[in-house]
Amino acid sequence: AFTPRVFSGIQPSGGLTLGNYLGAMKRFVDTQNTGVQSIYCMVDQHAITVWQDPENLRRATRELCAGYIASGLDPEKSILFNQSQVPEHAQLGWIFNCVARMGWMQRMTQWKDKAGKNSQNASLGLFAYPALMAADILVYHATHVPVGEDQKQHVELTRDIATKFNHDYKVDFFPIPEPVIEGTATRVMSLRDGSKKMSKSDPSDASRINLTDDADTIAKKIRKAKTDPEALPSDVEGLEGRSEARNLVNIYAALSETSVDAVLAEIGGKQFSEFKPLLADLAVDKLAPISTEMARLMEDAAEIDKILARGAERAREIAAPILKETYKIVGM
Ligand code: ADP
Ligand code: NA
Repeated sequence: AFTPRVFSGIQPSGGLTLGNYLGAMKRFVDTQNTGVQSIYCMVDQHAITVWQDPENLRRATRELCAGYIASGLDPEKSILFNQSQVPEHAQLGWIFNCVARMGWMQRMTQWKDKAGKNSQNASLGLFAYPALMAADILVYHATHVPVGEDQKQHVELTRDIATKFNHDYKVDFFPIPEPVIEGTATRVMSLRDGSKKMSKSDPSDASRINLTDDADTIAKKIRKAKTDPEALPSDVEGLEGRSEARNLVNIYAALSETSVDAVLAEIGGKQFSEFKPLLADLAVDKLAPISTEMARLMEDAAEIDKILARGAERAREIAAPILKETYKIVGM
């Protein structure tokens, strides 16, 4: 009985990768273009769960906004805004801190990975972050959440929080949102190690393609990407146990908007020495216009700030009544 509505977010923690683009941004654009109401956030309050230099955070927030727009999001069609400018997120986040259980949070694999062995020294915010993410989604009564595979567990936690809230207060108030994890690039892997995801936080810059990399850098990183000595297979079974090969084929398929089967029909039998230049050309072709447009947009910080302020206004029009109703349900 809930109107379909899409929400997703990306942390402005500096640097956007091909993983963010294919796993998230490109899919946001496709979703926007289906006409469903779409809300996309720069989640700066998530970013500060680990230390962020204030000037860098300000810059990364604008750069992320520029990245969203350069990738094809239209701030008139979609709502584009910065999380901290809509206080309802933090307000609902507190209520969800009181709904979520310690045990649920302790099971989050990203918490375990990010806090590592020194979890006593991690911020309380890093531990509570999935409850704030639940608020990000549910403060809009969003029904669908396009994310990469690494965020699946957090969307499931959001479902648990919505279910428990509805149950505890005997209401049918929050929708139970669906994670949308689709396409061939839901988990883009590191170019240096096929067992690790491509990430902006990987210390090796050669492990990732940044949206701001120039054509030569992109070509060089792909040329140096780790592979195996076999030729490319002509069917998917032939990618079994070849994570690096599979990753490059997945990237090719996602960038060219075709299936892995279609890609293998085209390139099966080729050596990597032949395939890599094709992939590099395709990547440059798709990414160079985005980085050029990002740089152009970044020249006018005031314009970006205006877009974000307008986006926050539109977001609040949806979030404020839902928060008000939540307070009433809770007895506040
Ligand atoms: P990061 O993981 O790079 O720090 P975020 O946590 O802000 O970035 O993630 C933003 C979005 O990008 C999420 O939907 C996440 O699932 C997606 N994403 C991040 N890295 C990848 C990747 N390597 N492959 C596919 N999607 C990814
Ligand atoms: Na992530």
